[in-house]
Amino acid sequence: MTLKKKVTEAFTSHFGGEGTLYASAGRINLIGEHTDYNGGFVFPGAIDKVILADIRPNGTDKVNLFSVDIDEAVSFGLEEADMPSQQWARYIFGVCRETIKRGFKVEGFDAAFAGDVPLGAGLSSSAALESCFAFAINDLFNSNAIPKFELARIGQSTEHNYCGVNCGIMDQFASIFGKKDCLMRLDCRSLEHEYFPIHLDGYRLVLVDSVVKHELVDSPYNRRRQSCENVAATLGVATLRDATLEMLNAAKDKISAEDYFRAKYVIEEKDRVLGVCDALGRDDIATVGRLMYETHEGLSKEFDVSCEELDYLVEIARECGVTGSRIMGGGFGGCTINLVSDSVYPRFIETVVSKFKARYGHAPRIYDVVISDGARRYEE
Ligand code: GLA
Repeated sequence: MTLKKKVTEAFTSHFGGEGTLYASAGRINLIGEHTDYNGGFVFPGAIDKVILADIRPNGTDKVNLFSVDIDEAVSFGLEEADMPSQQWARYIFGVCRETIKRGFKVEGFDAAFAGDVPLGAGLSSSAALESCFAFAINDLFNSNAIPKFELARIGQSTEHNYCGVNCGIMDQFASIFGKKDCLMRLDCRSLEHEYFPIHLDGYRLVLVDSVVKHELVDSPYNRRRQSCENVAATLGVATLRDATLEMLNAAKDKISAEDYFRAKYVIEEKDRVLGVCDALGRDDIATVGRLMYETHEGLSKEFDVSCEELDYLVEIARECGVTGSRIMGGGFGGCTINLVSDSVYPRFIETVVSKFKARYGHAPRIYDVVISDGARRYEE
């Protein structure tokens, strides 16, 4: 059954009649990991895997939700005290509350939703969910008066204030601003962004999902961010965006060894994103790939957000002659993103599936990436 059919049938059977369909996408990120909350650069794009919601205002002050994938219904009011206990419903409650806090309108609605963004794979299913509802609320109750940047911030604040994840802006930004066939270079300090049409002739982007789940709530993610903020404070800069390796090395004796390596990774990653942009401009795919491997090394050895399974996936990619490979997203499980030439592709897929399965007892999942539009009314 298609996602659309699943969602519209669920809406009709729970609420009767039909609503309006909205979609928002998960994301990939070519390079620039853990740089967003450091005021650095990222290079994401929205993908063809979405959260799809059928929504209709109900003329009350209650929100009634049905999650098709979890097969659970939850209702809540729109006051702070009405926060639901179910984590999945808090993403939507948070979006409502953050919209209201910014002075915009939210009224009661009924909604059924489902998704095909794999959960816990580092593809930002939560940002897709937040962006889908933020976009819909803007369209249904605010005549689209909320600027798109603010929609992304509404999702980000939802993570901070209702879900316990002190995330940066990348995921929600990609989910809201994503454009078909384009990656975006986003400066997370100024929010300036540029679309890069992506033509990887002879290459493809492939995600290999370890199916090892990470849990960012109450997690080491927030501790990584804390380390970066500690170092920025020691160096006397607003964020690590303003720091250099020279500054870091000069202050080495005032910084714990752990924080030193976290900050070193972030400072170097900032330059790698710009290096990738330059290399793409010259069609220098080999350099893009080399920088991706360097990012993985940094994420694994210095920033310490990889795990055995992900390191193994990258090792297999290297052995197979994959051009670039690295862990993608927050870390602690999830996917690697791989830049693979068409000629290497069949052997890589066969090898990575069989070797990973032999070692860990389950096959990784493979997703070919299609760069697509972000949040929208769904009219397909
Ligand atoms: C998660 C967060 C993002 C970003 C990435 C790492 O996806 O939600 O804000 O920090 O991790 O790059």
